[in-house]
Amino acid sequence: MPSRGPNFHQNTRTPELTKTMRQVLRSLIPSFAMKLYIDKRRRDMHRGNSLKTAEAVFTEIYANNRWGGRPGEFNSGLGTTETQTVSPYVNTIAAQATIEGFQGLRFVDLGCGDFKVGQWLLPLCSTYVGIDVVGPLVERNQAVFGNERVRFIRRDIATDELPDGDVCFVRQVLQHLSNAQIVAILARLKKYRWVFITEHYPDDEAAVIWNVDKPHGSDIRAYDSSGVYLTRAPFNLPPEELTTVLTVPGTSLGASAGAGVIRTFLYRPSQDGNGTFTESRLEAERAVCSGS
Ligand SMILES: C[S@@+](CC[C@H](N)C(=O)[O-])C[C@H]1O[C@@H](n2cnc3c(N)ncnc32)[C@H](O)[C@@H]1O
Repeated sequence: MPSRGPNFHQNTRTPELTKTMRQVLRSLIPSFAMKLYIDKRRRDMHRGNSLKTAEAVFTEIYANNRWGGRPGEFNSGLGTTETQTVSPYVNTIAAQATIEGFQGLRFVDLGCGDFKVGQWLLPLCSTYVGIDVVGPLVERNQAVFGNERVRFIRRDIATDELPDGDVCFVRQVLQHLSNAQIVAILARLKKYRWVFITEHYPDDEAAVIWNVDKPHGSDIRAYDSSGVYLTRAPFNLPPEELTTVLTVPGTSLGASAGAGVIRTFLYRPSQDGNGTFTESRLEAERAVCSGS
């Protein structure tokens, strides 16, 4: 299983004990004081993260188990393990594969994380490429899960070239990035025929502020009553190219924000970088994928 990298943080308390201590402390502190404390910690974190690269920030998150797991393990958070979040997602992608006819084509997973979700997509594709910015995570994934159909590559999806493919997944990744990074990534997604984007949103739609900016990091916009609203400025995806295919209850965000909801969209860019997608091009890709 996961290897322990040289920089991995050595935690002398067990995760269970630390969690219990945190829960007891939280129950003693009034909720408004807790919110002030969490807001201050987020401001400090934002200041620090804005001075570092995405690679440095997300490598540190995994090294310090900010999204869970034991020291030395790679864990991408509750969104990759909770059955009530992952099962409907996998079932929805399988249903869409039949409806849209992309079964057996090439899948690209941007921000693949610990591969706990991506692994369920393998029966649906010919090849799978997982991309992540965290080097030790990509090396572990390649060593444990890599084979002739499945490979992992270290890239920054906001700045590096993305691999070719037919179906792309960006699951709970944009929510951790700045608006400028999201704009850059969305422009690159046009090369894929089908793009599934999954994002966490706050409960109270009436109180929402669209697309509050934040630097890259472990936190998400739901703490600011915000989220990534893809058809709104500065992203402005055409609403007719976006369909909501799944909404499930959100995973817990702790004391200072409601659990919210997690939505998956199917984004079908009308054009790739070179021109309109054509059925003949798709037919050619299917033939290559099936080896005929
Ligand atoms: C919350 S995890 C989600 C993992 C996976 N998509 C899932 O749903 O299980 C977000 C992942 O995005 C990766 N990531 C963040 N920014 C990235 C970037 N600029 N380029 C590539 N990967 C990035 C992080 O390292 C992390 O593994």
